[in-house]
Amino acid sequence: MNSIIYESNTGFTKQYAMMLQEKLHIPAYERKAKHAFKEPIIYMGWTFAGKIVGLRAARKKYKIFCVIGVGMGDPTEDYRVEIQKANQIEEPFFYLQGGLAPQKLKGIKKWIINMVGKMTIKENKPGNERVIQLFQEGGSYVDEKALLPILSFINEQDR
Ligand SMILES: Cc1cc2nc3c(=O)[nH]c(=O)nc-3n(C[C@H](O)[C@H](O)[C@H](O)COP(=O)(O)O)c2cc1C
Repeated sequence: MNSIIYESNTGFTKQYAMMLQEKLHIPAYERKAKHAFKEPIIYMGWTFAGKIVGLRAARKKYKIFCVIGVGMGDPTEDYRVEIQKANQIEEPFFYLQGGLAPQKLKGIKKWIINMVGKMTIKENKPGNERVIQLFQEGGSYVDEKALLPILSFINEQDR
């Protein structure tokens, strides 16, 4: 694979895409820009109600080598598997924690986050502390170190 295609709403996925571009020495492009690649690509998208945004559209256009989802949920193995199943991903799949930028959200997306945030804060389930803090204050968990398993996986491939 020699390119990264990504879709980002508020910038966290883009930050990871830029880091990966630098580390792998391959270019990253926004999904909505026009490209044609025959080689398999790395697809990165933000998570919206459990779905990786742009993945379906990307599938129609590209061969996908691996998928990286970015969401506000904690990066546990259970959550990774949940998102992988919800998106019917058969390729290698990685999940990264981004953040929440409420000030950048508008319209229906802002409304959904307000609703889900109120419910999650009210439920106050143990283990949800980081996510609750994101709903309350916004913030970023973007972390270069989280890319390490992805880098070792990709570098193990013959490319
Ligand atoms: C309307 C809406 C729905 C979301 N749904 C989920 C979700 O189901 N799971 C999750 O982990 N994060 C969810 N998020 C959080 C985003 O995936 C998170 O903020 C991500 O870092 C955004 O990446 P971006 O800055 O590249 O757009 C949602 C955010 C919005 C605005």
